[in-house]
Amino acid sequence: GRHFLSVEDMSNDDVMRIIDRGRQFKAGDAPRVEPGHVAINMFFENSTRTMTSFQMAEHRLGMKILDFDPGHSSVTKGESLYDSVRTVDAIGAEVAVIRHSTNHYYDYLLSTGMLGLSVVNGGDGSGQHPSQCMLDLMTIAEEFGHVDGLTVAISGDIAHSRVARSDAQILSRLGANVIFTGPREWMDRNVTRLGSMATLDEVIADVDVAMMLRVQHERFDAGPDFSATDYLQAFGLTSERAERMKPQAIIMHPAPVNRGCEISGHLVEAPSSRIFEQMGNGVMVRMAILEQVLQGRETK
Ligand code: CP
Repeated sequence: GRHFLSVEDMSNDDVMRIIDRGRQFKAGDAPRVEPGHVAINMFFENSTRTMTSFQMAEHRLGMKILDFDPGHSSVTKGESLYDSVRTVDAIGAEVAVIRHSTNHYYDYLLSTGMLGLSVVNGGDGSGQHPSQCMLDLMTIAEEFGHVDGLTVAISGDIAHSRVARSDAQILSRLGANVIFTGPREWMDRNVTRLGSMATLDEVIADVDVAMMLRVQHERFDAGPDFSATDYLQAFGLTSERAERMKPQAIIMHPAPVNRGCEISGHLVEAPSSRIFEQMGNGVMVRMAILEQVLQGRETK
């Protein structure tokens, strides 16, 4: 399609097409779009991985990139997201990668039918993180050759996590057994209905993937009594729990990581960790996403 907004819009075939194309890029395949298309990355929430990997993907597709920094933009004078995006559209941006704290921000952007550019969602509030979902699925598919039948624990702050929401939808649709673990008050029925609930201790010996989520202090107040050490012992991936994992099982985390909170610090670089592979795969799936969006524009 012309936009890339939410995994809810994607069929299983759409997902597999992005993952397969990401793997082809990783194997060295050349882009199938003309160079010179113009991108702008508008990140109203901070980012290291998503922003730089979209930039890298844009470079590898031969795109031109316009600079945009919300803190030095006219957003500081009160210009709305809608008017900002219409402005960069008028200036000639063809693709805007947008991260914003408002869930479903793109519905309003597209509702007037006035935008010519394509919107790629780099994360909306606690809604969706569809490009993260694609890189997570690529990492799992690369590791195991399939998703169907795998047991995946998603652990931690389920309610506030756009990664949990996006990944659980696609994992369950592709036939994985998804188990949610973490504090009961951080569960959300809209997400946990996609799988089952357990404690990490109950399932750690059975999982193929332990996907640990960051405790997102910017999205809620964990309270004055929150202790990273206590959280790690109660809900996190400790050395003791990691030792109980199957030999072929892997550790994932979307990052940034709170070392010593949701995961013991040294496990980030353990042989079973795929955390940095996830980041590299992020460039590949973002090339696939942008290529597909550009192909949609070229054939318009
Ligand atoms: N995983 C992820 O979205 O990281 P950033 O917030 O650094 O982009």
